[in-house]
Amino acid sequence: MRFGYFNDEEKEYVITNPRTPVKWINYLGTLAFGGFVDHTGGALLCQGDPATNRITRYLALQPASDFRATTLYLRVHSKRGFSLTSPFFVPTLQPLELFECHIGLGYTQIISVYAGIRTAARFFVPPEDTRLLVDIQIENRGKKTVEVDAIPVIEYSHFDALKQLTNADWVPQTMQSRAVIEQDGCIVLSQYAFMMRDTRVNYLTSSLPVSSFETDRRKFLGENEYGTWASPSSLRQSELRNSEAQRGDNIGALMHHLGKIRPGEQRSVVIQIGQARSVEEALPGIRRFRDRAQVEEAFAKLGDFWKNYLDRLLVRTPDPHADRMLNIHNPRQCFTTLTWSRYLSLYQLGYGARGIGFRDSSQDAMGVLANAPHEARKLILRLLSVQMRAGHAMHQFNPATMEATMGDASERKDRPQYYSDDALWMVLTVCEYLKETGDFELLSREVPFYDKGGSGEPLESASILEHLRRALSFTNGNVGSHGLPLLGFADWNDTVNLPAGAESIFTACLYGKALQDMSALLRRTGEAAEADEYRACYDEMKTRLNEYAWDGAWFVRYFDADGSALGSRYNAQGQIYINAQTWPVIAGFAEPERALAALASLHERLNTRYGIKKSAPGFNGFDPAKGGVTTYPPGAKENCGIFLHTNPWAMIAQTIVGNGELAWQYYCQINPSLSNDEIERFECEPWVYPQNILGDEHPQFGLARNSWLSGTASWVYQAATKHILGIRPEYDGLRVDPCIPARWEGFQMKRMFRGARYTVNVTNPSHVCRGVKTVTVDSQEIRGTVVPAFSDTADHVINLVLG
Ligand code: GLC
Repeated sequence: MRFGYFNDEEKEYVITNPRTPVKWINYLGTLAFGGFVDHTGGALLCQGDPATNRITRYLALQPASDFRATTLYLRVHSKRGFSLTSPFFVPTLQPLELFECHIGLGYTQIISVYAGIRTAARFFVPPEDTRLLVDIQIENRGKKTVEVDAIPVIEYSHFDALKQLTNADWVPQTMQSRAVIEQDGCIVLSQYAFMMRDTRVNYLTSSLPVSSFETDRRKFLGENEYGTWASPSSLRQSELRNSEAQRGDNIGALMHHLGKIRPGEQRSVVIQIGQARSVEEALPGIRRFRDRAQVEEAFAKLGDFWKNYLDRLLVRTPDPHADRMLNIHNPRQCFTTLTWSRYLSLYQLGYGARGIGFRDSSQDAMGVLANAPHEARKLILRLLSVQMRAGHAMHQFNPATMEATMGDASERKDRPQYYSDDALWMVLTVCEYLKETGDFELLSREVPFYDKGGSGEPLESASILEHLRRALSFTNGNVGSHGLPLLGFADWNDTVNLPAGAESIFTACLYGKALQDMSALLRRTGEAAEADEYRACYDEMKTRLNEYAWDGAWFVRYFDADGSALGSRYNAQGQIYINAQTWPVIAGFAEPERALAALASLHERLNTRYGIKKSAPGFNGFDPAKGGVTTYPPGAKENCGIFLHTNPWAMIAQTIVGNGELAWQYYCQINPSLSNDEIERFECEPWVYPQNILGDEHPQFGLARNSWLSGTASWVYQAATKHILGIRPEYDGLRVDPCIPARWEGFQMKRMFRGARYTVNVTNPSHVCRGVKTVTVDSQEIRGTVVPAFSDTADHVINLVLG
């Protein structure tokens, strides 16, 4: 069974059945103003921060059929009274003659037909603006004239999202609404918590005259709220009661009589939801967007943004599912993770428990380098400002206040108060940024460290290069009994929290990769002596890892403080971990024989048809000594689930050993586009990578959760474009070294690189996975596989023959 289809031409996914297995969402706007809208029209909106400045009361815990924060009602007049429906299906749940929810780039459009009335409602946030527009067209497609009313409704949250859930006395006493009636009959409803009355108000307004309104939920639903969202009592009366809420649960509802619509006729109304210092201050913007031409212009601008973003890297491969992901949905997801980190989704509910994560965002930044390098640069600067002088980084920060915390580590004061991997990611990110852009000036940019003096002033600032040095020297100075990096509170795997003194093989490898990158960078900038020092550290770590961490057929994952290994054949559970096999290959620590053996063990013990499991076998029972991983049943999340973020690292590792077949198999088996035909198993949105899929030790093997905000997006995009298709920026040019399935005839990539456009045509006449026979650049054959960085604005054609 399917719930919709891809329309690649329009760069949309179209949902055709509203009863999807779980809500499917789309992101709108940015953190400055935005959030998400689900496929039945419920929108979660915030301005600046979903925890401290939330606008709509979207409760993700409600059943899917319940009203969530926003909807539109249509009322059709009849002799007997009115018939009521929501063209979004929820909350009235009436069967619709047609339902289509178009998930587009930065917009969602719901199109439905009820009793011959076609409604098309397009939700989007205009670029650089701070309001949601819902652009609604209502057309009579029936044979008879109908009289229709349109009533948009919103329910507000207290700005402090958590207080809304924890204090049912203070919050309702503070919530108030007012109506401003304009000369032309339009109305602006404003809503605020009392303390914000003079500084920050939410508003709901529309482009048509309004005959009545409601702001009090009790009155809207009626019968002491035994009236329901599916059938609000007040909508049985011809007019709403015009009450301005003095307290309580505040909503906004606007009654528009669209009048008699003849067959073929159409009405339109634009709804605006926003926040401003005052209604007065908001009015010029409000009036601007009452003009449909302005709405269209803003929508076109949104389209331009996405076109420019996506056009910077386009591929044509023999696999349409891959093309669809690589040209549209994967880079879009990368931009979404860059914006929202792990902050606000249907799974991370935005109540402030998580901030912007240092580790996650460093990796997210790598995912937009080809498409939006300037955005990555901005994020790099922000992230480095929460690094400590000692070199490790704060784990997460609030984007509005830049206040940082140690995340979950701070709840366990008996454990190390740092994460051993956080700061190291930044070495990789900065180096990838420099390779993409050649913007070496960034290295000397001064950024303060997070350590603060008594009055909050930063105690030290240093160049970005120095920030990277500190990250490496922190790891260098914090090693355990085998000379391998200490785990800290955790490494990439948040959920293995071993007592102090434990060592992490993953961090050893990430450190190795960072040392390699740093020494290559310093060689490039002419600091050869320092480059040599880092190289020596690399060689030393490589020796230790190979001396202690090899378990016979794979690498172990951790050492406890007492030296016992986890991720070893001697363990009953957690015998083998994916990251301990892929990262020694990525870091170049594993020599070919061990690399092949480790990857073969991974394939044999961890691969499944829905993706590679994180580890096996699963822990079966809570063990406080191991930590979070044992809070899950076997097969779920980090406890042996298919944790998708790790899969692209296996793709990259396979390209390093030259196995284009397995690299591609690993790519395809997690391509969400292919799950569209198995959606009852997968359940999540088929156009984005989820964070996790239940593994084969779980009875619901194959079920996806935590869609959208996952490091999977950045790494699959990198694995596919830079390692499998193999076209990757280096300091001196574009390396072209594909590692593809031998059966492919070839592929094409068009890519912007330092201002110039490169078209790379790859042909594979001898059907090999890897190996470059000839490369011509603008008809001239070159030696090697690095195409020069032209830094002009011309078009360059590269023909590459494998063989
Ligand atoms: C989540 C976290 C990420 C972590 C991963 C594995 O995805 O956001 O930081 O690396 O889980 O524990």
